Amino acid sequence: MPIHTPPRMWILETANTAYAFGLNEAGLLTHTYWGKRLPNLSDYPAPHNFPGWASFNGAKQVIREEYAAYGGTSYVEPCLKVTFADGVRDTVLQFVRAVQQGETLHITLTDSAYPLEVILTYRVLAEYDLIERYVTVINHSDQPITLERVWSAQWHLPLGDGYHLKHLTGRWLDEWHIHHEPLVNGVKVLESRRLTTSHHHNPYFAIDRGNASEDHGEVWFGVLAWSGNWKIAAEVTDFHSTRVNIGLNDFDFAWQLPPTQAFITPPSIAGYTPDGFGAASHRLHDYIREQVVPHPNVTRKILYNSWEATLFNVDEPSQIQLAELAAQMGVELFVMDDGWFHKRNSDNAGLGDWWPDETKFPNGLNPLIEAVNRLGMEFGLWVEPEMVNPDSDLYRTHPDWVIHFPTRARTEARNQLILNVARQDVQEYLIALLDDLLTRHNIAFIKWDMNRNVSEPGWPSYDGEQRELWVRYVQGVYHVWGTLRERHPNVIWQSCSGGGGRADLGILRLADQIWISDNTYPAPRLNIQEGYSQVFPASTMEAWVTDSGKREGMPEPLSFRFHVSMCGSLGVGGNLPEWTPAERAEAAGYIAQYKQIRHIVQFGDMYRLQSAQNGAFSAVQYVTKDQSESVIFAFRTHLPHPSVLPPLYLRGLDAETLYEQVGTSKRMSGAGWMYTGLLLELADWRSEVIHLQQA
Ligand code: DGJ
Repeated sequence: MPIHTPPRMWILETANTAYAFGLNEAGLLTHTYWGKRLPNLSDYPAPHNFPGWASFNGAKQVIREEYAAYGGTSYVEPCLKVTFADGVRDTVLQFVRAVQQGETLHITLTDSAYPLEVILTYRVLAEYDLIERYVTVINHSDQPITLERVWSAQWHLPLGDGYHLKHLTGRWLDEWHIHHEPLVNGVKVLESRRLTTSHHHNPYFAIDRGNASEDHGEVWFGVLAWSGNWKIAAEVTDFHSTRVNIGLNDFDFAWQLPPTQAFITPPSIAGYTPDGFGAASHRLHDYIREQVVPHPNVTRKILYNSWEATLFNVDEPSQIQLAELAAQMGVELFVMDDGWFHKRNSDNAGLGDWWPDETKFPNGLNPLIEAVNRLGMEFGLWVEPEMVNPDSDLYRTHPDWVIHFPTRARTEARNQLILNVARQDVQEYLIALLDDLLTRHNIAFIKWDMNRNVSEPGWPSYDGEQRELWVRYVQGVYHVWGTLRERHPNVIWQSCSGGGGRADLGILRLADQIWISDNTYPAPRLNIQEGYSQVFPASTMEAWVTDSGKREGMPEPLSFRFHVSMCGSLGVGGNLPEWTPAERAEAAGYIAQYKQIRHIVQFGDMYRLQSAQNGAFSAVQYVTKDQSESVIFAFRTHLPHPSVLPPLYLRGLDAETLYEQVGTSKRMSGAGWMYTGLLLELADWRSEVIHLQQA
């Protein structure tokens, strides 16, 4: 039973961790514990009682409230800020009841003077050592109220100082930089104000005491499952309390909650491990792979994508030529990217008019799809449903469908505007159009792209609270995508937003795969992949081998470029007719090799042996869950000569089991591989793949 309820306390236990809170003597819902699971229920601390200090620091300033509302003499970051119909902006939440349903706990609080109900829901994901939280706010009054902030969770770290925050930042083409920095008194804010998750920050945190490594040390970590504006506000108070607030961004946000209606926040999922950042990633990887993505534990196919080869110049003959070469190399899924639809010859026109271009595909898409299927591959297609070019039939017919303010110019980015997917008519239009596309064609895979951020966030025809747009837009995207998924359950979707602009656990409920960056240069890609792996498993990480780097005469050989992409869900995106027959034959060899090891990469535990972001020699290892097999990828970019590479101490193997390196006669016990250190000799710009199998 993972939820225990001693008097006035709730203790949520996972396999190895525990999370506890209770009511103190003043009736405040107070956080008490988050960390290692303790032997006895009596070991968990009781809620703090604290009357307050003089006039400047009341009880709420010192006590760690489980879900603080704005009100009274509290100046910490509140999770909830409400304006009632009479203008009162002070909320006093009181405990009413706790209801347990299996592994879920609902704590109901109500305001002391207004019929406002706040339900804190906790779901114990015991086998993953994770807890999911979200909040439901219900207005039981007969007048609307305004929500100005409603966060999903306040995650409290154990009392004490000296915490460090690990987080991810970047920009288009250069996503997923790992930062690790001290948290000091005050508030550290990470956020997106861009309408999507964004390339710039990701709604993820990992906190340690400044001394955790990949394998050791306590780490508290979490995410927000949301694909729009979000905020993390990590606060350190003057009373040795560190807490991470996470939820919808309150910047330019407001929600008018009508009588009897509820507002439900997106969930935040968090966990604790005493075993370092690597173990934190494992918890998230397992959960995403098994519980979040629509097609759990399904082997990801090796795909070909046309974008970097043909850009907008797609047509039936060029795509069939690419498909034939891809099939000869062993590719399983052929994806035609941008350029296939009405008048789409550049990024100036076409978005919105989702039917095949009459010149490029005079007989529609089916001849190409049939050719691809005859070659033994599935067919996939690129779309960007949320967008419209002003030069399109859709925009000429519905200029009012885009996000805009009537008195302002409509700022274009990549010559496109954003359809207001918060609108029901836009949702219906997109569902009908994409449903038709999927019904009339044998499409196994859709890449859903989104290539700009918001500007002039107005919705002139909406007579409600304008600032609801941020949330209603994302709800609209989820609705459109979710409806299509229900109608076409076998289609595999990929989320792309100019690369890694929309990667989060919200979109992964719809998409099995993410295009994590438009940067396909192999060396920077190593860094990008390492950052992404903090949160997301390799099975979700689509990685193509393209001509980036080769085109400019950069030194990485084909082997290096393939090995980088083989660390995720392998794809190919090079201009294959320009590859020599020898290159294509070599590529076929890597594809065949990947088919032998992809179950380890896609479904195994990942160990970051040597960081690419910290050095020119990097290595990553994957181990099957049953510990019978492992694969190690090692890369050297550029190091001054002469240099000696550090040994790779493998991880995750069974110490007693004998493992043989495939293709050699080298055999050692798991302990031998893990503790003696693997010494590699790699020249600059060279890589190696080592495959171990139980002997
Ligand atoms: C941005 C994507 O990240 C690319 O892979 C490609 O699909 C282009 N959009 C197409 O316009």
